[in-house]
Amino acid sequence: MESSETRGSFTGRLGFIMAAAGSAIGLGNIWRFPYLADKYGGGAFLVTFIILALAVGLTLMITELAIGRYTGKSCIDAFQELSAKYRVIGWLGLITPAIIVPYYCVIGGWVTKYFVEYTVGNGSAAGADGGAFFNDFISGSLPGLFDNPMVWFLVFAAVTVAAVMMGVEKGVEMVSKILMPALIVILIVICIYILTLDNIASGLEHYLVPQPEDFSIKTVLGAIGQVFFSLSLASGTLITYGSYMKKDVHIPNSTKVVTLMSILTSFLAGLMIIPATVAFGMDTGEGGPGLMFVIMPQVFDAMPAGHIVAIAFFLLVIFAAVTSAISLTETVVSTLKDRFKMTRITASAACTVLIVALGTLVCLGFGALSGFTPFGRDVLSLFDNMSDDILMPFFALITCILVGHVFNTKAIIDEIGFCESKHGLCYADIYSFMIRYICPVCLFAVFVLGIVTTFGIFEI
Ligand code: PHE
Repeated sequence: MESSETRGSFTGRLGFIMAAAGSAIGLGNIWRFPYLADKYGGGAFLVTFIILALAVGLTLMITELAIGRYTGKSCIDAFQELSAKYRVIGWLGLITPAIIVPYYCVIGGWVTKYFVEYTVGNGSAAGADGGAFFNDFISGSLPGLFDNPMVWFLVFAAVTVAAVMMGVEKGVEMVSKILMPALIVILIVICIYILTLDNIASGLEHYLVPQPEDFSIKTVLGAIGQVFFSLSLASGTLITYGSYMKKDVHIPNSTKVVTLMSILTSFLAGLMIIPATVAFGMDTGEGGPGLMFVIMPQVFDAMPAGHIVAIAFFLLVIFAAVTSAISLTETVVSTLKDRFKMTRITASAACTVLIVALGTLVCLGFGALSGFTPFGRDVLSLFDNMSDDILMPFFALITCILVGHVFNTKAIIDEIGFCESKHGLCYADIYSFMIRYICPVCLFAVFVLGIVTTFGIFEI
């Protein structure tokens, strides 16, 4: 393991907030949130997501950062230090990001392809015929080399791994400081345009007004998985980032900012995409993972100076995606380094092999391997469900139980520093209740339901 002298650290409160926001804000907010909200009932999903993010998400984020900073270690070693018996649980902080990062790079590749299409002036082709271009592209049926999704996946993955190899905490902070606010601004600009569209009212209502009949167990399951994904929870990432955090940064206050920024970005991304699906005559719930790539080109086509806005939009999404992909890869690399005493280069090489192998499967899942559908899913959905609906709730559940009932709870609460803030109230008692009782009960239910639905044990 690295000595504490050589372990990197964020520069301070703003540096930490920006790095954590860089990890949190990414494809999860802009690509994943809108398509799930579309699939699981619009307003019903939005409300469930916000409540769960503020209750369970915030509590878990505080907890994971405190574990990382208290132990100064990445996931496996952190659990070992808290209680040697439970080291094995820490492995989930290696396995989960290792499953997510390959498919994340595949989607990052799709975004990069769209950015390039718009930059070379082919944007209208991407928007033509509804989703035809998108489907042809991801299935690998377009002829040219640069129309092959594998190529863009490899480009995206190469940039991510190169950044991690160079040890980029400072770089991520700098990039995030400028580009995350820029991303929020461009989302606002596009949303304002969307609000001027004809026929937008019913789509807006679908997104903003929850309908009781749209609530279902699937809404809750989808929403909690999305909370984990979009706040980078239960994946070892925040434990690793906590280990890079300076002692004088106030965990609850910084966490609040990151959570609110991430919720706002998701909300805006939904506002940009979901009402437009209705305005452009698409059936709600039909878009699936391609929703953003099918709807946004149509929005840009209809928008004045849409080409320019599209270039800026896809570029900013690439940056948001790269900073998140870096945090996922950094989690794997840092854990391999700490646990197996690998150098950064060796650990990055091992991570590359894994990304290329699993990412290739995901790419081919839409083309040559489209007949391969384990548990009735394509490879992307399989990896996504495995990480988000099973591993993350399980990891979060065990973390809450251990922190609330087994580890030295007082030490973790002291590390969080609830009562140290000059202006904040002292929330230690509420936190304690959440981590001991409310979160474990919710997460247990979610974990059981996740297993039941993923393996199709019975239909809910
Ligand atoms: N939060 C990131 C996003 O929304 C994805 C991510 C998940 C990053 C887990 C790190 C860990 O895109």
